[in-house]
Amino acid sequence: MEFNDTFIKACRKQPVSHVPVWYMRQAGRYQPEYRKIREKYSLFEITHHPEVCAEVTRLPVEQLGVDAAILFADIMTPLVPIGVDVEIKSGIGPVIANPVRSLNDVSKLGELDPNDGVPFVMETVQLLKKELKVPLIGFAGAPFTLASYMIEGGPSKNYHLTKSFMYAEPEAWQALMEKLTKMTIAYLQAQVNAGAAAVQIFDSWVGALNAKDYNEYIMPVMKKIVDGLKSECNVPIIYFGVGAGHLLEEWNQLDVDVLGLDWRTTVGSARNRGIEKALQGNLDPSLLLAPWNMVERKAKEILEEGSKQPGFIFNLGHGVFPQVKADTLKRLTDFVHEYSARCLK
Ligand code: CP3
Repeated sequence: MEFNDTFIKACRKQPVSHVPVWYMRQAGRYQPEYRKIREKYSLFEITHHPEVCAEVTRLPVEQLGVDAAILFADIMTPLVPIGVDVEIKSGIGPVIANPVRSLNDVSKLGELDPNDGVPFVMETVQLLKKELKVPLIGFAGAPFTLASYMIEGGPSKNYHLTKSFMYAEPEAWQALMEKLTKMTIAYLQAQVNAGAAAVQIFDSWVGALNAKDYNEYIMPVMKKIVDGLKSECNVPIIYFGVGAGHLLEEWNQLDVDVLGLDWRTTVGSARNRGIEKALQGNLDPSLLLAPWNMVERKAKEILEEGSKQPGFIFNLGHGVFPQVKADTLKRLTDFVHEYSARCLK
């Protein structure tokens, strides 16, 4: 089988014969095989066993026929070696025993040397680079999203502690952002060196900020990360957030290649707002629990808008839920390939 580079071509806005597709959380609890592995290993234990972790990463590629693999890890992974005491609780998410609430807490955080702190991630990437016939997407959480867990101590609805820390403790916030910036560049750079063909930066919760505050507090941080990466390597960078449609014009100023949309912002409306970068998204993941004719109708709408110009990658607007049937995702993948091939003819 030849290497399928359709996904990279779409990231670079080059012509393709079908719209490439992959899914956020394509490895996860909706798969019986994953649940079986999870009976034996916790999420972090999977990531500490490169062979198992590579298998979990490959599973959805083999089962669904998607055009990209995403490294199996968590956005919390690189925080452990810098001193964050985090546990991933099933059904809840990351829970942190030592939340960051002061400059002193920030100063206790160490630096990440990826080969020393997370060697198992690099080994997994190296294994996958040999085995896969599609590009591997490396990833990291963005500083605001990581900070939200570190400060709140777990998932949050409105990020009151995070935002009040940002407004009230400028010196500590700045110090935290600087540490996370350095960590993120080193972590993503190491994944690329090990064989990742693209990277996605998950800023899942940054939509909690308005555009003015994003510009003031986060834009310089993201610019540093993106420019830092671009100066070192030439892989496509995808930037994604949930409920962040009001930030598209800001994101568009960053030197990223692809903007990831959630289901609230249509591809057509992003294009109408002058966004010329490649786009990725954005089927509402809830639709995967609806009858097939509804899934198909909504996927068609997205593909028709997405295939109007080069630079579109089909995905969900957020991650796959555990309740989704693997068959539905397989059918959707085949549909995206077949229907988009007709649109692009
Ligand atoms: O297949 C893939 O997408 C790759 C693996 C991946 C995981 N987490 C594995 C995981 C990726 C890319 C992530 C990123 C991640 N982790 C994000 C950014 C993406 C997003 O969802 O917005 C965030 C915010 C986290 C933090 C986190 N970790 C959450 C919110 C959860 C879900 C909690 C739950 O149980 O519903 C986790 C746990 C987690 N990370 C699971 C998986 C497969 C759940 C399954 C398990 O416990 O085995």
